[in-house]
Parts: sequence; C-alpha cells; structure tokens
Amino acid sequence: MTVGLQIAIDGPASAGKSTVAKQVAKQLHYTYCDTGAMYRALTLAALRAKVNLTDESAVLAILKTLQIQFKPGSPQQRVFIGEQEVTQAIRQPEVTNNVSTVAALAGVRRQLVRQQQQIAQQGSIVMDGRDIGTAVLPQAQVKIFLVASVAERARRRYQENVHKGIDTPLATLQKEIEIRDQKDSTRKVSPLTQAKDAVRVDTTALSIDQVVAKIIAITNEKQKDH
Ligand code: DC
Repeated sequence: MTVGLQIAIDGPASAGKSTVAKQVAKQLHYTYCDTGAMYRALTLAALRAKVNLTDESAVLAILKTLQIQFKPGSPQQRVFIGEQEVTQAIRQPEVTNNVSTVAALAGVRRQLVRQQQQIAQQGSIVMDGRDIGTAVLPQAQVKIFLVASVAERARRRYQENVHKGIDTPLATLQKEIEIRDQKDSTRKVSPLTQAKDAVRVDTTALSIDQVVAKIIAITNEKQKDH
C-alpha cells in the first residue's frame, strides 16, 4: 500500500497557509491539521482562567486538562475544547494578540509538538504552522514556506474580518501583523524560519488556486520517489 506523504506548510501570519493547506488536503484526500488553532485554543483557555500568560507552569497546568479536538466542518474545520465549540472564539482579536506569548513558552511547545507528531504519524497529512518543517516534521517529504508582503497580508486579514463582521482598521491590522511576525521570528524556541529544504512560495501576486496547484505538483513529484 502506498502511504501518503507528510506536507509541512509554514510561513508568517496571514500568508494564506490555512486556506491553501485546507484545499491541498481536500484535493489529495489528506487530513488537515491547523497547529495554530492548538496554540489559540490554549491561549483562549488561559485567558478565560485569567492566568498570567507568561507563567509557564500555570499555562502548562491548563494544557494538561485541555482536550483539543478537530471535527470536519464547512467552510472551516471546527475546533473544540472538550465538548465546547471554540471555532469562532479562538479567532477573536484578544486571542490573536496574545497567542504569540503562549507560543513562546518552551514547555508548551514541547507538549503541543508531541501531540502534533502523533497526529501526523500515519502520513497523508497537511499540517500548517510556523515550525512544522523545522521541528514538528523535519522528515516531511514536502516542505513549503509561504510568504507574502505585509501590506498584502493585512489586506487579506481585513477582507476576512469584514466577512466575520469584525471591524478593525487596515493600518491596525498591518501593525498587529508586524508585531506578531517580530515575536514569532525572534522567540528563543523554534522561531519562524524557513527549513533548508523547504520550497519558498511568494503568494503576493498569486491566486489561491495557483498556490494550491503548485503544492500539488510538488507533492506529485515527491510521491513518485516515495
Ligand atoms: O497561524 P495562526 O495565526 O493561527 O497561529 C497563531 C499563533 O500561534 C502565531 O502567532 C504563532 C503561533 N504558532 C506557532 O508558534 N507554531 C505553530 N506551529 C503554529 C502557530
């Protein structure tokens, strides 16, 4: 039996990772795992518990009791903490603006990376995040590093927010993206960096379909050698 590949998609905030990853997974009949949603769910739970987000042992105590689950949904995958749906709640600005703090905690990363490796071990998986090609799945056969200009990423986030009824000015979004890029790229543990063997794809001037087609073509090539 041919076992499906592991596809790692990394890149900065709003480069189009999850949109593209979902479509690649759908077309290949692979499982999709949004690792950012795991950091977001933990951040939401920590905010609700009112713990200090830089207090690693307090955040780890929450993670211990947290059961993060993904369920298929349309247009997006649904996310649950235990029985409670948090699909929308984890995308709220308060979570978005605090998640980098939680994602910088070494112990948190160790636990979540282990969970992500378990999810991916069967293969046939598309996983997106910041450290998938470098730390979670360094053996992944396909590694993509998606980038786009900050202005274009802010514009995309703005459009997304308009659809969700979230009203944040474009300039604020651009500033928030720059701050998050800075935090994600300079943190001590697993900073956002391109894996040496990743293919860099600049999506600024590409449509979603073009990016998806590119990744599927790369995967088909790799599948031949697999
Ligand atoms: O992709 P996203 O915006 O949902 O990610 C939320 C945050 O989680 C982002 O600021 C960086 C962090 N993250 C991470 O550090 N490692 C991952 N594998 C995925 C996300």
